[in-house]
Amino acid sequence: MKAQEIKKGIHFVGAVDWNCRNFHGYSLSPKGTTYNAFLVQGGEKTALIDTVKADFTDTLACNIAHVTELEKIDYIVANHIEPDHSGALPRMVEMIKPEKIFVSPMGERAVKTYYKTEGWPLEVVPSGSEISLGGKTLQFVETRMLHWPDNMLTYIPEDKIAFTSDAFGQNWATSERFADQVCRATLEQLLSDYYANIVLPYSSKVISVLDELEKMNLDIDMLCPDHGLIYRGDDVRFAFDSYRKFANQEPTRKAVIVFDTMWHSTEKMAKAIASGLESEEVSVRLMSVKQNHHSDVMSEVMDAAAVIVGSPTHNNGILPGMAGMLTYMKGLRPQNKIGAVFGSFGWSGECVKILTDWLESMKMELPVEPVKVKNRPTHETYGQCFDLGQKIGQAIKKRTG
Ligand code: FEO
Repeated sequence: MKAQEIKKGIHFVGAVDWNCRNFHGYSLSPKGTTYNAFLVQGGEKTALIDTVKADFTDTLACNIAHVTELEKIDYIVANHIEPDHSGALPRMVEMIKPEKIFVSPMGERAVKTYYKTEGWPLEVVPSGSEISLGGKTLQFVETRMLHWPDNMLTYIPEDKIAFTSDAFGQNWATSERFADQVCRATLEQLLSDYYANIVLPYSSKVISVLDELEKMNLDIDMLCPDHGLIYRGDDVRFAFDSYRKFANQEPTRKAVIVFDTMWHSTEKMAKAIASGLESEEVSVRLMSVKQNHHSDVMSEVMDAAAVIVGSPTHNNGILPGMAGMLTYMKGLRPQNKIGAVFGSFGWSGECVKILTDWLESMKMELPVEPVKVKNRPTHETYGQCFDLGQKIGQAIKKRTG
């Protein structure tokens, strides 16, 4: 690909990763991703904002070469040190020999522990500081814990453009660069998936950063995340509003039943619970952890009002797929959920206690007694499962109005 000018003197020089399907080794990215980097040419100085994953170093160098010689770059801004944006940094430093590399205070700590930085001209830029390129000013705003301690945002007031590192990103490999050029429904889904699996634990921080940015009254007409499509015009407001909605975690009239099963008893219970929920006109997602990746489950959990989890008892515990799912879910700290548990057992029956402990550790409200079935569900226990679903459905309707 070639560099693409997105504003006068500002080029996209990043890389499109068409083949990425396992983002960072834990989250699905079925449509690939991009590592966005930008070249900003002022009247006196030129800056490269962010780099790319190490595998794409040559692509970055080639894209820059379409615009200018690497040696003519004066500054590198590293908004975020995670290796998908800094992997190419060591070779870029070698090739560019920058006058300065700007990092946040936490970015300095991170970069020094990732790379051999002896001799690098690192300069820490605290929140509120700025550097002139001549006709274009780089202003730096720390966005700590969105989603790493080192994240910062770079804003150019003359161009009303903000580079936000991971915030507002989506995993989508495209030839288009702008959000208004692609399928809206897909964009919204991928923005939501990214938030659910990467940003969700930091939702309270998202709200405070959004509040801070609103207070600063930055005039932004283009928002450039480090992954996926760029927002311009009205889409800037769309991106901010979407993040506020995700961060608030307002529950919707939806329940997710997540389960694992050995001989289908727990699965049959899950289906009976789903029927109870449907009888209350609640939208249901029935998700076996064998058939659904944990990142897809979390994409559904994010806006659900209820999470209902089931597993058979296995070796005095729960099945490993379910244990992994719950570990992942707890790490992402979903808020404002009702929970319920169910499971089958052969002889010892610890499953519901273990599942209850998991949901309580996530501070979920558990308004209904668990249902536990020995070996196979009966007509009576199917009724108990249906009742559980119905009661959870009623509780969801109370919450969601
Ligand atoms: Fe896209 Fe936190 O790296």
